Amino acid sequence: MDQQKLNQLLSEMSLEEKIGQLVQLPGYFQNGGTITGPAGDPGLTQEDLRLAGSYLSVIGAEKIRTLQEEYMAAHPHHIPLIFMDDIINGYRTVFPVPLAQGCTFNPDLVQQGASVAAKEAAASGVHVTFSPMADLVRDARWGRVMESTGEDAYLNGLMAAAMVRGYQGDLKEKGTIAACLKHFAGYGAPDGGRDYNSVELSPRTLKEDYLPAYKAAIDAGVAMVMTSFNTLDRVPSTANKWLMRDVLRDEMGFDGALISDWGAVGELVPHGVAADFAQAAQLAIEAGVDMDMVSPSYAKHLKTLVEEGKVDEKLIDESCMRMLELKNKLGLFENPFRDASKKEEDALLLCDEHRKVAQDCAEKSFVLLKNDNALLPLRSEEKVAFIGPFVDNKFLCGSWAIFSDDQDTITLKAALEQQEGTSPISFAPGSRVMDKDGIVLGFQKAIPEETLDEEAALQEAVEMAKKADKVVLALGEHREFSGEASSRGTLTLPHCQQRLLDEVAKVNQNITVVLFCGRPMDLRKVQNKAKAILVAWFPGTEGGPALARTLYGHCVPQGKLSMAFPWSVSQLPMHYNEFSTGRPFTGDYRTARFGSKYQDMPKYPLYPFGFGLSYTTISCSPVTLNKAVLKKGDAITAAVTVKNTGHCTGTETVQLYIRDVVGSVARPVRELKGFRQVTLRPGEEKEVLFEITEDMLRFWDIHMNYVSEPGEFHLFIGSDSTTDNKAAFTLEA
Ligand code: BGC
Repeated sequence: MDQQKLNQLLSEMSLEEKIGQLVQLPGYFQNGGTITGPAGDPGLTQEDLRLAGSYLSVIGAEKIRTLQEEYMAAHPHHIPLIFMDDIINGYRTVFPVPLAQGCTFNPDLVQQGASVAAKEAAASGVHVTFSPMADLVRDARWGRVMESTGEDAYLNGLMAAAMVRGYQGDLKEKGTIAACLKHFAGYGAPDGGRDYNSVELSPRTLKEDYLPAYKAAIDAGVAMVMTSFNTLDRVPSTANKWLMRDVLRDEMGFDGALISDWGAVGELVPHGVAADFAQAAQLAIEAGVDMDMVSPSYAKHLKTLVEEGKVDEKLIDESCMRMLELKNKLGLFENPFRDASKKEEDALLLCDEHRKVAQDCAEKSFVLLKNDNALLPLRSEEKVAFIGPFVDNKFLCGSWAIFSDDQDTITLKAALEQQEGTSPISFAPGSRVMDKDGIVLGFQKAIPEETLDEEAALQEAVEMAKKADKVVLALGEHREFSGEASSRGTLTLPHCQQRLLDEVAKVNQNITVVLFCGRPMDLRKVQNKAKAILVAWFPGTEGGPALARTLYGHCVPQGKLSMAFPWSVSQLPMHYNEFSTGRPFTGDYRTARFGSKYQDMPKYPLYPFGFGLSYTTISCSPVTLNKAVLKKGDAITAAVTVKNTGHCTGTETVQLYIRDVVGSVARPVRELKGFRQVTLRPGEEKEVLFEITEDMLRFWDIHMNYVSEPGEFHLFIGSDSTTDNKAAFTLEA
């Protein structure tokens, strides 16, 4: 439809119809869609249902086709519905959780994953996914770090843009869906790491650290944006006119549709900025929120607000047009069913090709934190006991894989039994996932009760460990312990699993821990018992095969931490790109009494951002620069030579960090500015080059201008964020 026809359509619509386009109803109005927020009856009438322009969490080609047909027939202007869902880390074929995808440091692979998810979802009738989540995260207590790609704005931006490209393509092609960027803005910084809590960010920190990843997704052409639940400077985002109109639209150039988060318009009441749903609706529409997800505010109150002259009908027209434009971009006026097809669903969902991409992504997301005496990889002649509650566990997809079927997941045990050259191996659960008195509330799916005779299981495991050459302990946190509404105050393993580790360690010291988790955990009591630690995250449908291959060396770990594992939960929030402070701690407690540190624990994480080992060793030469002075408009080339000094082929992610030594405001001790992945055979070496240009050195200066400042810069190139492989250059005035 051309713009003229859209204008014509808008002009013919009644006020009620226009408001209907701004209302999204939850799937449970359509018999059992998944519930992803506080459910309740928003008190809507049949008329509201007849006009509501969108559904959330409804899936299935046949169901959606029927719904669409019936809805359009009854709608006065036969405008199609738009179906939106949370396709976070895959649809039926599930990929590793986003935090793990961040650890691949491989935007192309992440794009490929998003494209697979889009193909499957599109075949099931889905039009929009509520992804990517580009929220920057610095506090592992927050359960939703699992949905982020980590603690670095640059990496997050690359990943968010890659996901947008993967989902959307050009939106015209078959197998594409629109992406919705979330949660605007600053949702990843809740006080105390507690979900939904208030956010306090200085204007500079917001701009410098939090906005860039959202901006990268906007520049990649994301079709929609979602508001965040939190307040920012005490104003809830959903009512924040400055944030939505001045920042998002005017400064960041977003011109697509803006949707609230689940119930967030109505939540302006408990936030205490609106007295009732009517005032909430007024604040949100004035802030430029086009669509109200689930709350009754728009459906019940916008009409009266317009009739009473409190809300200008122009605002309704503006928002309605954005929703019509989105439907038009998706081609829904010409083909309201888009790709929805039972036949395509049967052919595509979980097809071999998709499973292969998921497995590849899982393999590349595993992070090897420790591997003393090359305990890994396992060898086929070794007697290995695979013990732990995750050995034969199908819940490997994370809490957001709400459209997956856990039965499709291949467990580690099943994969090992299929893989050649792994005998002799034995298996035992060893313990429950959760302590008996632990509280686990299922967010989206029912949680099966754990029935296990704990003492007998522990005994069996210890006996098995005694007889083995090596033990692999598959441990971790319950999948409902990360994701939405799943903040944690402690980051350790449940007691029952720690006890299993401790008891096994008494009889066999050759322990590898494979850790399943949706967040960085406190591993102090794991690393002192385990000789090897492999972080598997929640690896998805193909997690089992990916792990079986990795453990036996058929593929080599190459993931790098997209978020540091803290030494202790009390260090949080933390991030590698911190500031020096006036009293930087040198690491020597005798001379730095007054340094910025703790008296009773290290100030640094146990495993830093960017860290990850391989089965081989890779060396990196000192940095050389082709010149020492950078002129505007020119470039410096920084070079290192990386060499595989070990015994198997491996891939290194060579990372570039830069420090601006003196600025008009304090500058981070270093910031990631680039990375390259190189695969090297044993003995092979390659030169890795980085171009440094003036635009990479810009920041929001003392006057809030985005500029670079002349002076000295330090540049670091190495295998993680702590590298001291350094060179210096000057930016000319
Ligand atoms: C979450 C969003 C999600 C939405 C719809 C909310 O509770 O915060 O991330 O997209 O529900 O399911």
